Amino acid sequence: MRKKIVAGNWKMNLNLPEGLELINEIYNGAPELNKNKEIVIAPPFIHITQAASQLSNMEHVHLGAQNCHHEAAGAYTGEVSASMLKSAEVEYVILGHSERRQYFHEDGTMLAKKVNQVLSNGMKVIFCCGEPLEIRDAGTENNYVGTQIEEGLFHLNADHLANVVIAYEPIWAIGTGRTASSAQAQDMHAHIRSVISAQYGPDVAASISILYGGSCKPSNAAELFACPDVDGGLIGGAALKAEEFLAIVAAIPAN
Ligand code: PGA
Repeated sequence: MRKKIVAGNWKMNLNLPEGLELINEIYNGAPELNKNKEIVIAPPFIHITQAASQLSNMEHVHLGAQNCHHEAAGAYTGEVSASMLKSAEVEYVILGHSERRQYFHEDGTMLAKKVNQVLSNGMKVIFCCGEPLEIRDAGTENNYVGTQIEEGLFHLNADHLANVVIAYEPIWAIGTGRTASSAQAQDMHAHIRSVISAQYGPDVAASISILYGGSCKPSNAAELFACPDVDGGLIGGAALKAEEFLAIVAAIPAN
């Protein structure tokens, strides 16, 4: 049975005391979850070591990072490597977020290297994909997203893919308040699963978690998460307030 995950992507928000306070509120408010459900928080790098110690005795709240460099180590001023994140007790690394693709020019070749860095350091990947509005308007979103997945993930074997979670985030829905409808989300998630199935077979496709992201909030989370191929969410703005984030966690279906 594949995992249901609600992951908070804080982006470049909250200073250290504010971030630690939010973690504290999540720590105090997070429900007990069974093994098939996980909460992930991905604060900025600067918060990570203290976040790890704050969360150290919470089994169902996992620590994530928002990015890592595509090389193992070396003269890359200002960058953070996967092995550094591993040594700071990070479990998940978000890769390929549309903001990174757009503002930092991350392409499929670079993302495939980042995926390798994360997996070879024993962490899990939350691999983001999603189309801009003009692609959606042209009706070519399935091909667009399929290509992103192929470029970033298809070099992996099925064992390695087991440590990958996919997050579908239509760019036109990120931070805009315009959520994909549950039908749009379900259609794309089913397409992504069929793309995985064509490459890796139906068992692998059935076991990979696919999260929805893009203006997910307490008022729409339950409807989105009820879709058969939506296995939770990657949450931006609503992850910055414990009350909203925990309300989204509460929307994970019981089974
Ligand atoms: P949003 O961001 O929830 O603020 O739309 C989602 C994301 O970019 O991960």
